[in-house]
Amino acid sequence: MSNIGSYEQRIKNFDWSLSEKELDYKAGDVLNIGWHCTDRICRQGKADKLALIWEGRGGKEKRYTFNDIRLATNTIGAFLRGQGIKPNERVCLFLDKVPELYLGFLGILKIGAVVQPLFSAFGDESLHVRLENAETAAVITQKKHVSKVRKIRDKLPHLRHIVVVDADPAAPLQERETAFSLEKAAPVEHLDIHPTSAETPSVLHYTSGTTGMPKGVQHVHYSLISQYLTARWVLDLRDDDIYWCTADPGWVTGTSYGIIGAWATGTTQCVLDLGFMTEAWYKFIEKHRVTVWYSAPTAIRSLMKTGEEVVKKYDLSSLRHLVSVGEPLNAEAVIWSEKVYGLPFHDSYWQTETGSIMISNYPGMKIKPGSMGRPFPGITAAVLDPNSFAPLDEPGKVGLIGLRPGWPSMMRTYWKNEETYRQKFQNGWYLTGDRARLDKDGYFWFVGRDDDVINTGGHLVSPFEVESALLEHPAVAESAVVSKPDDINMEVVKAFVALKPGHPPGADSELEIMNFIRKKLSPLAMPQEIEFVESLPKTRSGKIMRRLLHAREWGEEIGDTSSLEND
Ligand code: WT7
Repeated sequence: MSNIGSYEQRIKNFDWSLSEKELDYKAGDVLNIGWHCTDRICRQGKADKLALIWEGRGGKEKRYTFNDIRLATNTIGAFLRGQGIKPNERVCLFLDKVPELYLGFLGILKIGAVVQPLFSAFGDESLHVRLENAETAAVITQKKHVSKVRKIRDKLPHLRHIVVVDADPAAPLQERETAFSLEKAAPVEHLDIHPTSAETPSVLHYTSGTTGMPKGVQHVHYSLISQYLTARWVLDLRDDDIYWCTADPGWVTGTSYGIIGAWATGTTQCVLDLGFMTEAWYKFIEKHRVTVWYSAPTAIRSLMKTGEEVVKKYDLSSLRHLVSVGEPLNAEAVIWSEKVYGLPFHDSYWQTETGSIMISNYPGMKIKPGSMGRPFPGITAAVLDPNSFAPLDEPGKVGLIGLRPGWPSMMRTYWKNEETYRQKFQNGWYLTGDRARLDKDGYFWFVGRDDDVINTGGHLVSPFEVESALLEHPAVAESAVVSKPDDINMEVVKAFVALKPGHPPGADSELEIMNFIRKKLSPLAMPQEIEFVESLPKTRSGKIMRRLLHAREWGEEIGDTSSLEND
């Protein structure tokens, strides 16, 4: 039975001060996520409790207690401070899911610097635009990724340090590079934690929008108040849990719940530094006796595809609570998991911008398969009329998901882009950019995004970013990027490309261009299909009509094409 109280009880007279109290925080106090996730847990008598069970390739395993992570984060913080990193400067983590990623995250916060986590599969171009925009002072990386940083460092005048956590003593380091080994460094018992307060910037996560380059979503230390309570009440983390969040901290789920939520609640978590593989995942759950599992629909659909038989080979009886995030969780996936694991996946909905779970299937609440559930206590969510931005009172009507600003983990701005931030608010609501409908019981049903952003396997890809990269290919004259349906990933990237004269279309060109994007941007942004066309449909003013190509891919009504130039 859950120890968190019923949804009905919790929404009554809800106040965030409840979370503040549990975290011993009062307005005006020093508030530091790095300290809260390590030192504070040690002070609660859990210094010897396991904080992290890490497993890498070939079954390699490392274990860290809360005291170990306290020391490791002190050590990394002291090292960076010694390198001259100042409070508020951005430090990028460009790492696989190695322990240094998790510990570096908190070490950076402890010295008051801002963490900028970036997915290690990003190519040099994706990396460049984000480091340039953030004016990042240091990058922490591994030797396998350092060549991508070397390729762009000359274009990054703010980048003073490239820290390599597994430098090979035999291979010489280059300009601005420093080796740092967590295992060899002398543990730092005492670190002066920078006196960050509620509104001090903490994490800068880059997310993709419809237009323009990726935006830096600026969070602050006060986000902890939301992340802690949602980890307790939605993920239902308890003292004896073994928790597994499958998300990469390059994305917000992997930081809000793969680091902060897990450790601020003093929970033991495990990390698998491997991509998706059904049997490896089941084996991992069996071996570590995972109890709470936070994953994503694409992974669940992949598990469904490998079927029920393989599940029987493993003892998954330790599992007690399953939660999903990132994309629509189809009803079949909920029903399947209930049948096969004996537990339904609980959908949760939120965004990089919101910092924590906004709408979810609260433990103990009736699950309606296919619905995202209801707003977290303290969150006012509504379905808004797209013209007036007033809540649609009638159940069943589709509108925009709006959230009433004011919860602790809301982004504070888009980095150096206050204008775009302001545009996200209308009539007193924060506009998520998603569409949904509400039923008569107050459950939210996701309908779709209200923009052209592609959600592939739970990860957002901006068509604009892919189109810009395509234009850098010498054979490409123009391009339009849209999503196309996919059984597993829900959507994948598809590009329509017109080639320059003298460049013949064909399988070779397709492969060559796909690879170009994979290397420059990332495997996720790589088009799964390229359709070569003579020209692209445009409006009279010359704007490429993505909408038309999108509709064709999805077999939808094309709508008004009266402004088309060459239909
Ligand atoms: C977008 C946010 C929140 C962590 C991971 C994604 C989509 C998210 C759901 C869900 C349907 C969902 C929305 C949202 N999304 N959760 N449960 N059902 N769609 O963070 O990269 O900022 O993406 O993901 O479109 O706006 P993100």
